Amino acid sequence: MKRVAILISGGGSNMLALLRDMVGDHPGRAVLVASNDPAAAGLARAADMGVAVAAVDHRGFGKDRAAFEAALLQPILAAEPDIVCLAGFMRVLTPDFVRRFEGRMLNIHPSLLPKYPGLHTHARALAAGDAEAGCSVHEVTAELDAGPLLGQARVPVVPGDTEDSLAARVLAAEHRLYPAVLRRYAAGDRSPVWL
Ligand code: GRF
Repeated sequence: MKRVAILISGGGSNMLALLRDMVGDHPGRAVLVASNDPAAAGLARAADMGVAVAAVDHRGFGKDRAAFEAALLQPILAAEPDIVCLAGFMRVLTPDFVRRFEGRMLNIHPSLLPKYPGLHTHARALAAGDAEAGCSVHEVTAELDAGPLLGQARVPVVPGDTEDSLAARVLAAEHRLYPAVLRRYAAGDRSPVWL
């Protein structure tokens, strides 16, 4: 059974999808949900499902990213995860942090990478007039949103789409893609999932 830690910053809808799927014959189980925001709504949702939670407020560390990460590492290392899933985690991690988990840390990004790394992905897809959009799960490396792809889900862009309507369609796809990727990845299979 693989021990899975999930890092969130807010509501944790992707975290919830992962927790709901990690049952039965799933080869992974959540051992921790941690956040950079003590007020992250996902923490209460995880606790309600019996998962250990932790929070380290990044705002207490100012610009000292390394000090924040050293504090965040405490509960994560104590949980002894085999896999770390970033799920709506909105802090950029330093190469030192990433190196600790390289090859076993995943992230979900709301675009069809390598298109649109970074923020405002839906606005950028709409501005470009793309006919389709989607989401990607990738291994986390020191370069932002650029690690090996572990899966993608495509959704159509429809006439009249706004950033919000497209974001909602992509988010629904995320909730299908991330659990499918983690289920395969936790079984030791790194072949990509295409939805
Ligand atoms: C989602 O768009 C996800 O792609 C990105 O953060 C947003 C919120 O995710 N990583 P969640 O609802 O907190 O899981």
